Amino acid sequence: MEQEKVIKAALLGFGTVGGGVYKLAGRLADEMQKKAGARLEIKKILVRDMTKPREGVSPELLTDDWNEILSDPEIEIVIELMGGIEPARTYVSQALEAGKNVVTANKDLLAEYGGELLEKSKENGKDLQFEASVAGAIPVIRALKHSLSGSIITEVSGIVNGTTNYILTKMSEKGMDYQEALQMAMEKGYAESNPEADVEGYDAGRKIAIMASIAFNSRVTFPQVYTEGITKITAGDIRFAKEFGYVIKLLGIAKLEEGEILVKVHPVLLPEDHPLASVRNSFNAVFIHGEACDDAMFMGRGAGEMPTASAVIGDVIDVMGNIVHGCCGRTGCTCYKELKVKEIGDSASKYFLRLKVEDKPGVLANIAGVLGNNGVSIAQVVQKKSENQVAELVIITDEVMEKNFNASIQTVRQMTALKQVASIIRVY
Ligand code: NAP
Ligand code: HSE
Repeated sequence: MEQEKVIKAALLGFGTVGGGVYKLAGRLADEMQKKAGARLEIKKILVRDMTKPREGVSPELLTDDWNEILSDPEIEIVIELMGGIEPARTYVSQALEAGKNVVTANKDLLAEYGGELLEKSKENGKDLQFEASVAGAIPVIRALKHSLSGSIITEVSGIVNGTTNYILTKMSEKGMDYQEALQMAMEKGYAESNPEADVEGYDAGRKIAIMASIAFNSRVTFPQVYTEGITKITAGDIRFAKEFGYVIKLLGIAKLEEGEILVKVHPVLLPEDHPLASVRNSFNAVFIHGEACDDAMFMGRGAGEMPTASAVIGDVIDVMGNIVHGCCGRTGCTCYKELKVKEIGDSASKYFLRLKVEDKPGVLANIAGVLGNNGVSIAQVVQKKSENQVAELVIITDEVMEKNFNASIQTVRQMTALKQVASIIRVY
Protein backbone atom coordinates (compact mmCIF):
# COMPACT_ATOMS: atom_id res chain seq x y z
CA MET A 1 0.00 0.00 0.00
CA GLU A 2 1.26 3.48 -0.88
CA GLN A 3 2.37 5.48 2.16
CA GLU A 4 0.18 8.45 3.04
CA LYS A 5 1.89 11.78 2.25
CA VAL A 6 2.31 14.11 5.24
CA ILE A 7 2.98 17.84 4.85
CA LYS A 8 4.50 19.54 7.87
CA ALA A 9 3.65 23.10 8.85
CA ALA A 10 4.43 25.60 11.60
CA LEU A 11 2.06 28.09 13.16
CA LEU A 12 3.48 31.48 14.04
CA GLY A 13 1.13 32.73 16.75
CA PHE A 14 -1.40 30.95 18.87
CA GLY A 15 -3.91 33.69 19.68
CA THR A 16 -7.52 34.00 18.50
CA VAL A 17 -6.79 32.95 14.90
CA GLY A 18 -3.82 30.64 15.58
CA GLY A 19 -5.81 28.74 18.19
CA GLY A 20 -8.77 28.52 15.79
CA VAL A 21 -6.59 27.22 12.96
CA TYR A 22 -5.06 24.55 15.19
CA LYS A 23 -8.53 23.35 16.32
CA LEU A 24 -10.00 23.43 12.81
CA ALA A 25 -7.01 21.60 11.29
CA GLY A 26 -7.56 18.85 13.87
CA ARG A 27 -11.29 18.70 13.26
CA LEU A 28 -10.94 18.65 9.45
CA ALA A 29 -7.87 16.38 9.24
CA ASP A 30 -9.58 13.70 7.13
CA GLU A 31 -11.40 16.24 4.94
CA MET A 32 -8.11 18.06 4.29
CA GLN A 33 -6.39 14.81 3.41
CA LYS A 34 -9.07 14.02 0.83
CA LYS A 35 -9.10 17.55 -0.60
CA ALA A 36 -5.32 18.06 -0.79
CA GLY A 37 -4.04 14.53 -1.17
CA ALA A 38 -1.87 14.74 1.95
CA ARG A 39 -2.24 14.97 5.70
CA LEU A 40 -1.28 18.14 7.55
CA GLU A 41 0.92 17.93 10.60
CA ILE A 42 1.49 21.02 12.72
CA LYS A 43 5.06 20.36 13.76
CA LYS A 44 5.82 23.58 15.67
CA ILE A 45 3.98 26.58 17.13
CA LEU A 46 5.85 29.85 17.68
CA VAL A 47 4.64 31.97 20.62
CA ARG A 48 6.01 34.92 22.53
CA ASP A 49 5.21 33.77 26.04
CA MET A 50 6.09 30.12 26.75
CA THR A 51 4.52 30.27 30.24
CA LYS A 52 0.95 30.96 29.05
CA PRO A 53 -1.37 27.96 29.41
CA ARG A 54 -2.33 26.62 25.91
CA GLU A 55 -5.28 24.29 26.18
CA GLY A 56 -5.24 21.18 23.99
CA VAL A 57 -1.64 21.64 22.77
CA SER A 58 1.18 19.37 23.68
CA PRO A 59 4.00 21.52 25.18
CA GLU A 60 6.71 20.05 22.93
CA LEU A 61 5.06 21.71 19.93
CA LEU A 62 5.65 25.17 21.41
CA THR A 63 8.76 27.24 20.83
CA ASP A 64 9.79 30.85 21.18
CA ASP A 65 12.71 30.37 18.80
CA TRP A 66 11.97 31.25 15.16
CA ASN A 67 15.24 29.68 14.00
CA GLU A 68 14.03 26.27 15.12
CA ILE A 69 11.26 26.57 12.48
CA LEU A 70 13.30 28.36 9.81
CA SER A 71 16.09 25.80 9.90
CA ASP A 72 13.79 22.77 9.86
CA PRO A 73 13.77 21.46 6.25
CA GLU A 74 10.74 19.28 6.99
CA ILE A 75 8.49 22.32 7.54
CA GLU A 76 7.04 23.21 4.14
CA ILE A 77 4.31 25.66 5.17
CA VAL A 78 4.60 28.58 7.58
CA ILE A 79 1.22 29.90 8.76
CA GLU A 80 1.84 33.43 10.05
CA LEU A 81 -0.82 34.53 12.57
CA MET A 82 1.15 36.85 14.84
CA GLY A 83 0.04 40.15 13.32
CA GLY A 84 1.90 43.46 13.04
CA ILE A 85 4.78 44.37 10.73
CA GLU A 86 7.87 43.17 12.61
CA PRO A 87 9.00 40.49 13.16
CA ALA A 88 6.30 39.12 10.80
CA ARG A 89 7.89 40.80 7.72
CA THR A 90 11.31 39.32 8.47
CA TYR A 91 9.96 35.86 9.27
CA VAL A 92 7.74 35.67 6.16
CA SER A 93 10.59 36.89 4.00
CA GLN A 94 13.08 34.42 5.49
CA ALA A 95 10.58 31.56 5.20
CA LEU A 96 10.11 32.22 1.46
CA GLU A 97 13.88 32.53 0.93
CA ALA A 98 14.29 29.20 2.74
CA GLY A 99 11.90 27.57 0.25
CA LYS A 100 8.85 27.42 2.50
CA ASN A 101 5.31 28.36 1.46
CA VAL A 102 3.49 30.97 3.54
CA VAL A 103 -0.15 31.48 4.50
CA THR A 104 -0.94 34.65 6.45
CA ALA A 105 -3.92 36.62 7.78
CA ASN A 106 -1.80 39.72 8.34
CA LYS A 107 -3.39 42.74 6.65
CA ASP A 108 -0.96 45.22 8.25
CA LEU A 109 1.91 43.38 6.59
CA LEU A 110 0.24 42.83 3.20
CA ALA A 111 -1.06 46.41 2.92
CA GLU A 112 2.47 47.82 3.19
CA TYR A 113 4.86 45.09 2.08
CA GLY A 114 2.65 42.84 -0.07
CA GLY A 115 4.58 43.82 -3.22
CA GLU A 116 8.02 42.86 -1.93
CA LEU A 117 6.76 39.62 -0.32
CA LEU A 118 4.85 38.50 -3.41
CA GLU A 119 7.96 39.16 -5.52
CA LYS A 120 9.93 37.04 -3.08
CA SER A 121 7.40 34.21 -3.34
CA LYS A 122 7.66 34.32 -7.13
CA GLU A 123 11.49 34.41 -7.09
CA ASN A 124 11.57 31.36 -4.84
CA GLY A 125 8.76 29.49 -6.61
CA LYS A 126 6.72 29.31 -3.41
CA ASP A 127 3.13 30.25 -2.48
CA LEU A 128 2.19 33.29 -0.43
CA GLN A 129 -1.54 33.15 0.28
CA PHE A 130 -3.52 35.64 2.34
CA GLU A 131 -7.28 35.15 1.93
CA ALA A 132 -7.96 35.75 5.65
CA SER A 133 -6.28 39.18 5.59
CA VAL A 134 -9.40 40.79 4.10
CA ALA A 135 -12.93 40.27 5.40
CA GLY A 136 -12.29 37.02 7.30
CA ALA A 137 -14.28 34.13 5.88
CA ILE A 138 -15.47 36.04 2.79
CA PRO A 139 -13.60 34.67 -0.26
CA VAL A 140 -12.70 37.98 -1.84
CA ILE A 141 -8.95 37.66 -2.55
CA ARG A 142 -9.31 34.47 -4.55
CA ALA A 143 -12.44 35.83 -6.23
CA LEU A 144 -10.58 38.95 -7.40
CA LYS A 145 -7.33 37.17 -8.32
CA HIS A 146 -8.88 34.21 -10.11
CA SER A 147 -12.65 33.98 -10.52
CA LEU A 148 -13.15 37.58 -11.66
CA SER A 149 -9.92 37.96 -13.61
CA GLY A 150 -11.95 37.76 -16.82
CA SER A 151 -13.36 41.22 -16.05
CA ILE A 152 -11.81 44.68 -15.85
CA ILE A 153 -12.80 45.60 -12.31
CA THR A 154 -13.84 49.22 -11.87
CA GLU A 155 -15.04 49.24 -8.26
CA VAL A 156 -14.48 47.35 -5.02
CA SER A 157 -16.33 48.84 -2.09
CA GLY A 158 -17.51 47.42 1.13
CA ILE A 159 -18.07 47.17 4.80
CA VAL A 160 -14.80 45.55 5.81
CA ASN A 161 -14.62 46.31 9.52
CA GLY A 162 -16.93 44.39 11.80
CA THR A 163 -16.36 46.56 14.87
CA THR A 164 -17.48 49.81 13.28
CA ASN A 165 -20.42 48.16 11.54
CA TYR A 166 -21.50 46.75 14.90
CA ILE A 167 -21.18 50.17 16.59
CA LEU A 168 -23.12 52.00 13.86
CA THR A 169 -25.84 49.33 13.84
CA LYS A 170 -26.32 49.57 17.62
CA MET A 171 -26.33 53.38 17.53
CA SER A 172 -28.88 53.34 14.73
CA GLU A 173 -31.20 50.54 15.84
CA LYS A 174 -30.91 50.63 19.66
CA GLY A 175 -30.19 54.31 20.15
CA MET A 176 -26.94 53.44 21.98
CA ASP A 177 -24.30 56.10 22.29
CA TYR A 178 -20.91 55.61 20.65
CA GLN A 179 -18.96 54.69 23.81
CA GLU A 180 -21.53 52.11 24.94
CA ALA A 181 -21.59 50.44 21.51
CA LEU A 182 -17.76 50.41 21.32
CA GLN A 183 -17.58 48.80 24.75
CA MET A 184 -19.96 46.04 23.58
CA ALA A 185 -17.94 45.47 20.38
CA MET A 186 -14.80 45.08 22.50
CA GLU A 187 -16.52 42.66 24.90
CA LYS A 188 -17.65 40.55 21.94
CA GLY A 189 -14.04 40.32 20.73
CA TYR A 190 -14.64 42.07 17.36
CA ALA A 191 -12.37 45.01 18.09
CA GLU A 192 -8.58 44.98 17.96
CA SER A 193 -6.89 45.18 21.40
CA ASN A 194 -6.32 48.86 20.60
CA PRO A 195 -9.61 49.72 18.84
CA GLU A 196 -8.13 52.89 17.32
CA ALA A 197 -7.34 50.87 14.17
CA ASP A 198 -11.03 49.95 13.88
CA VAL A 199 -12.75 53.23 14.74
CA GLU A 200 -10.31 55.50 12.87
CA GLY A 201 -10.70 53.45 9.68
CA TYR A 202 -7.09 52.15 9.56
CA ASP A 203 -8.12 48.47 9.62
CA ALA A 204 -10.57 49.06 6.75
CA GLY A 205 -7.88 51.14 4.99
CA ARG A 206 -5.44 48.24 5.03
CA LYS A 207 -8.08 45.89 3.65
CA ILE A 208 -9.14 48.25 0.87
CA ALA A 209 -5.45 48.79 -0.10
CA ILE A 210 -5.03 45.02 -0.51
CA MET A 211 -8.26 44.64 -2.51
CA ALA A 212 -7.55 47.67 -4.73
CA SER A 213 -4.08 46.33 -5.60
CA ILE A 214 -5.54 43.05 -6.80
CA ALA A 215 -8.66 44.50 -8.42
CA PHE A 216 -6.84 47.14 -10.48
CA ASN A 217 -3.55 45.21 -10.97
CA SER A 218 -1.62 48.18 -9.59
CA ARG A 219 0.03 48.38 -6.16
CA VAL A 220 -1.80 50.50 -3.58
CA THR A 221 -0.26 50.72 -0.10
CA PHE A 222 -1.98 51.69 3.13
CA PRO A 223 -0.30 55.13 3.41
CA GLN A 224 -1.92 56.04 0.06
CA VAL A 225 -5.43 55.42 1.40
CA TYR A 226 -7.41 58.42 2.65
CA THR A 227 -8.93 57.38 6.00
CA GLU A 228 -11.56 58.94 8.18
CA GLY A 229 -13.20 57.02 11.04
CA ILE A 230 -16.53 57.04 12.83
CA THR A 231 -15.58 58.80 16.08
CA LYS A 232 -17.41 62.01 15.15
CA ILE A 233 -20.71 60.35 14.15
CA THR A 234 -23.50 61.32 16.54
CA ALA A 235 -27.01 60.11 17.27
CA GLY A 236 -28.19 63.36 15.62
CA ASP A 237 -26.43 62.48 12.35
CA ILE A 238 -28.03 59.06 12.34
CA ARG A 239 -31.50 60.53 13.05
CA PHE A 240 -31.27 63.14 10.28
CA ALA A 241 -29.82 60.60 7.83
CA LYS A 242 -32.84 58.40 8.51
CA GLU A 243 -35.20 61.32 7.82
CA PHE A 244 -33.59 61.68 4.38
CA GLY A 245 -33.82 57.90 3.72
CA TYR A 246 -30.20 56.93 4.45
CA VAL A 247 -28.22 54.79 6.88
CA ILE A 248 -24.68 55.65 7.97
CA LYS A 249 -21.97 53.04 7.27
CA LEU A 250 -18.17 53.07 7.27
CA LEU A 251 -17.18 52.10 3.74
CA GLY A 252 -13.91 51.24 2.12
CA ILE A 253 -14.17 52.50 -1.45
CA ALA A 254 -11.82 51.81 -4.36
CA LYS A 255 -12.71 52.96 -7.87
CA LEU A 256 -11.00 53.12 -11.20
CA GLU A 257 -11.74 56.64 -12.52
CA GLU A 258 -10.31 57.72 -15.88
CA GLY A 259 -7.30 55.44 -15.47
CA GLU A 260 -6.58 56.59 -11.90
CA ILE A 261 -7.37 54.91 -8.60
CA LEU A 262 -9.57 56.54 -6.00
CA VAL A 263 -9.11 54.70 -2.71
CA LYS A 264 -10.56 55.84 0.61
CA VAL A 265 -12.32 54.92 3.82
CA HIS A 266 -14.88 57.17 5.44
CA PRO A 267 -18.41 57.16 6.81
CA VAL A 268 -21.11 57.57 4.18
CA LEU A 269 -24.83 58.15 4.03
CA LEU A 270 -25.97 55.11 2.09
CA PRO A 271 -29.48 54.98 0.53
CA GLU A 272 -31.61 52.58 2.59
CA ASP A 273 -32.26 50.44 -0.50
CA HIS A 274 -28.55 49.94 -1.38
CA PRO A 275 -27.53 46.26 -0.88
CA LEU A 276 -24.78 47.29 1.58
CA ALA A 277 -27.32 49.14 3.78
CA SER A 278 -28.84 45.88 4.99
CA VAL A 279 -25.47 44.50 6.21
CA ARG A 280 -25.87 44.77 9.97
CA ASN A 281 -23.96 44.16 13.19
CA SER A 282 -20.48 42.65 12.75
CA PHE A 283 -21.13 41.28 9.24
CA ASN A 284 -18.89 42.39 6.39
CA ALA A 285 -19.79 42.70 2.72
CA VAL A 286 -17.82 43.50 -0.41
CA PHE A 287 -19.43 44.93 -3.51
CA ILE A 288 -17.56 44.54 -6.81
CA HIS A 289 -18.33 46.00 -10.21
CA GLY A 290 -16.57 44.84 -13.35
CA GLU A 291 -17.05 45.64 -17.02
CA ALA A 292 -17.92 42.07 -18.01
CA CYS A 293 -19.06 40.53 -14.71
CA ASP A 294 -21.32 43.51 -13.82
CA ASP A 295 -22.27 43.66 -10.10
CA ALA A 296 -21.29 41.03 -7.54
CA MET A 297 -21.63 41.12 -3.78
CA PHE A 298 -20.11 38.86 -1.11
CA MET A 299 -21.33 38.94 2.47
CA GLY A 300 -20.28 37.06 5.57
CA ARG A 301 -18.29 36.97 8.78
CA GLY A 302 -15.31 39.30 8.55
CA ALA A 303 -13.67 38.41 11.85
CA GLY A 304 -13.58 36.00 14.76
CA GLU A 305 -11.82 32.76 15.58
CA MET A 306 -13.57 30.24 13.32
CA PRO A 307 -14.53 32.44 10.33
CA THR A 308 -10.92 33.60 10.04
CA ALA A 309 -9.56 30.09 10.64
CA SER A 310 -11.84 28.87 7.84
CA ALA A 311 -10.15 31.19 5.34
CA VAL A 312 -6.66 30.26 6.60
CA ILE A 313 -7.39 26.53 6.30
CA GLY A 314 -8.79 27.09 2.79
CA ASP A 315 -5.43 28.61 1.80
CA VAL A 316 -3.51 25.82 3.53
CA ILE A 317 -5.47 23.18 1.60
CA ASP A 318 -4.68 25.02 -1.63
CA VAL A 319 -0.96 25.19 -0.82
CA MET A 320 -0.94 21.51 0.17
CA GLY A 321 -2.55 20.61 -3.17
CA ASN A 322 0.13 22.67 -4.95
CA ILE A 323 2.90 20.87 -3.02
CA VAL A 324 1.37 17.49 -3.89
CA HIS A 325 1.26 18.46 -7.58
CA GLY A 326 4.62 20.23 -7.56
CA CYS A 327 3.24 23.54 -8.75
CA CYS A 328 3.76 26.14 -6.02
CA GLY A 329 4.44 29.80 -6.82
CA ARG A 330 2.22 30.06 -9.90
CA THR A 331 0.43 33.23 -8.83
CA GLY A 332 2.82 35.87 -7.61
CA CYS A 333 2.25 39.60 -7.72
CA THR A 334 -0.46 40.57 -10.23
CA CYS A 335 0.31 44.32 -10.11
CA TYR A 336 1.55 44.73 -13.67
CA LYS A 337 0.27 48.32 -14.05
CA GLU A 338 1.44 51.53 -12.38
CA LEU A 339 -1.69 53.64 -11.97
CA LYS A 340 -1.77 56.97 -10.15
CA VAL A 341 -3.65 57.17 -6.86
CA LYS A 342 -5.92 60.23 -6.90
CA GLU A 343 -5.70 63.05 -4.37
CA ILE A 344 -8.88 63.02 -2.29
CA GLY A 345 -9.50 66.68 -3.24
CA ASP A 346 -9.80 65.63 -6.89
CA SER A 347 -12.64 63.22 -6.16
CA ALA A 348 -16.33 64.07 -6.34
CA SER A 349 -19.02 63.44 -3.71
CA LYS A 350 -22.39 64.52 -2.55
CA TYR A 351 -22.35 65.88 1.00
CA PHE A 352 -24.59 65.87 4.08
CA LEU A 353 -23.95 69.07 5.99
CA ARG A 354 -25.36 70.06 9.39
CA LEU A 355 -24.92 73.66 10.42
CA LYS A 356 -26.04 75.53 13.53
CA VAL A 357 -26.70 79.13 12.62
CA GLU A 358 -28.30 82.28 14.04
CA ASP A 359 -32.04 82.11 13.47
CA LYS A 360 -32.55 85.37 11.56
CA PRO A 361 -33.61 86.43 8.07
CA GLY A 362 -31.15 86.04 5.22
CA VAL A 363 -28.83 83.46 6.82
CA LEU A 364 -30.00 80.52 4.70
CA ALA A 365 -29.78 82.66 1.56
CA ASN A 366 -26.22 83.74 2.46
CA ILE A 367 -25.11 80.16 3.02
CA ALA A 368 -26.71 79.04 -0.23
CA GLY A 369 -24.84 81.92 -1.92
CA VAL A 370 -21.45 80.86 -0.52
CA LEU A 371 -22.03 77.25 -1.55
CA GLY A 372 -23.25 78.33 -5.01
CA ASN A 373 -20.20 80.58 -5.54
CA ASN A 374 -18.02 77.50 -5.13
CA GLY A 375 -20.09 75.39 -7.51
CA VAL A 376 -21.88 73.54 -4.70
CA SER A 377 -25.52 73.02 -5.56
CA ILE A 378 -28.08 72.18 -2.86
CA ALA A 379 -30.20 69.08 -3.57
CA GLN A 380 -32.23 69.05 -0.32
CA VAL A 381 -32.46 71.24 2.74
CA VAL A 382 -34.44 71.19 5.98
CA GLN A 383 -34.39 73.72 8.77
CA LYS A 384 -35.03 72.65 12.36
CA LYS A 385 -35.78 75.22 15.00
CA SER A 386 -33.51 74.73 17.98
CA GLU A 387 -33.17 76.72 21.17
CA ASN A 388 -31.82 80.20 21.99
CA GLN A 389 -32.29 81.74 18.53
CA VAL A 390 -30.16 79.04 16.94
CA ALA A 391 -31.53 77.12 13.95
CA GLU A 392 -30.18 73.87 12.59
CA LEU A 393 -29.79 73.58 8.83
CA VAL A 394 -29.42 70.13 7.31
CA ILE A 395 -28.31 70.20 3.68
CA ILE A 396 -27.63 67.52 1.11
CA THR A 397 -25.65 68.75 -1.87
CA ASP A 398 -25.41 67.52 -5.42
CA GLU A 399 -22.14 65.94 -6.48
CA VAL A 400 -19.21 68.36 -6.31
CA MET A 401 -15.42 68.18 -6.35
CA GLU A 402 -14.12 67.74 -2.82
CA LYS A 403 -11.74 70.71 -3.08
CA ASN A 404 -14.60 73.02 -4.14
CA PHE A 405 -16.76 71.81 -1.29
CA ASN A 406 -13.91 72.35 1.20
CA ALA A 407 -13.36 75.88 -0.14
CA SER A 408 -17.04 76.69 0.39
CA ILE A 409 -16.93 75.36 3.96
CA GLN A 410 -13.88 77.51 4.72
CA THR A 411 -15.92 80.59 3.79
CA VAL A 412 -18.99 79.35 5.69
CA ARG A 413 -16.82 78.97 8.81
CA GLN A 414 -15.99 82.70 8.64
CA MET A 415 -19.65 83.82 8.57
CA THR A 416 -20.70 85.65 11.74
CA ALA A 417 -24.12 83.94 11.65
CA LEU A 418 -22.47 80.50 11.92
CA LYS A 419 -22.50 78.91 15.39
CA GLN A 420 -21.14 75.47 14.49
CA VAL A 421 -20.42 73.15 11.60
CA ALA A 422 -21.97 70.16 13.40
CA SER A 423 -21.12 67.54 10.80
CA ILE A 424 -19.97 66.86 7.27
CA ILE A 425 -20.50 63.35 5.90
CA ARG A 426 -20.17 62.21 2.31
CA VAL A 427 -23.21 60.68 0.60
CA TYR A 428 -22.65 57.51 -1.47
P1 NAP B 1 -3.74 37.60 18.84
O1 NAP B 1 -4.91 36.96 19.46
O2 NAP B 1 -3.18 38.84 19.47
O3 NAP B 1 -2.57 36.49 18.75
C1 NAP B 1 -1.27 36.80 18.35
C2 NAP B 1 -0.39 35.58 18.61
O4 NAP B 1 0.88 35.82 18.06
C3 NAP B 1 -0.17 35.25 20.08
O5 NAP B 1 -0.19 33.88 20.29
C4 NAP B 1 1.24 35.80 20.37
O6 NAP B 1 1.97 35.06 21.33
C5 NAP B 1 1.90 35.60 19.03
N1 NAP B 1 2.96 36.59 18.81
C6 NAP B 1 2.84 37.92 18.65
N2 NAP B 1 4.02 38.50 18.45
C7 NAP B 1 4.93 37.48 18.50
C8 NAP B 1 6.33 37.41 18.37
N3 NAP B 1 7.06 38.51 18.18
N4 NAP B 1 6.93 36.20 18.46
C9 NAP B 1 6.22 35.09 18.68
N5 NAP B 1 4.87 35.07 18.80
C10 NAP B 1 4.24 36.26 18.71
O7 NAP B 1 -4.02 37.99 17.32
P2 NAP B 1 -5.18 37.40 16.37
O8 NAP B 1 -6.45 38.12 16.61
O9 NAP B 1 -5.15 35.93 16.42
O10 NAP B 1 -4.68 37.92 14.93
C11 NAP B 1 -3.64 37.27 14.25
C12 NAP B 1 -3.56 37.82 12.83
O11 NAP B 1 -4.77 37.54 12.14
C13 NAP B 1 -3.35 39.32 12.74
O12 NAP B 1 -2.55 39.62 11.62
C14 NAP B 1 -4.76 39.85 12.52
O13 NAP B 1 -4.80 41.11 11.87
C15 NAP B 1 -5.31 38.75 11.63
N6 NAP B 1 -6.77 38.66 11.62
C16 NAP B 1 -7.43 38.54 12.78
C17 NAP B 1 -8.82 38.42 12.77
C18 NAP B 1 -9.58 38.25 14.05
O14 NAP B 1 -10.81 38.17 13.99
N7 NAP B 1 -8.93 38.18 15.21
C19 NAP B 1 -9.50 38.44 11.56
C20 NAP B 1 -8.78 38.54 10.36
C21 NAP B 1 -7.41 38.65 10.41
P3 NAP B 1 1.53 34.95 22.86
O15 NAP B 1 0.29 34.11 22.86
O16 NAP B 1 2.68 34.29 23.52
O17 NAP B 1 1.27 36.36 23.31
N1 HSE C 1 -11.09 44.28 14.19
C1 HSE C 1 -11.40 43.73 12.92
C2 HSE C 1 -12.87 44.00 12.61
C3 HSE C 1 -11.08 42.23 12.94
O1 HSE C 1 -13.58 44.54 13.48
O2 HSE C 1 -13.32 43.75 11.50
C4 HSE C 1 -10.90 41.62 11.58
O3 HSE C 1 -9.90 42.20 10.84
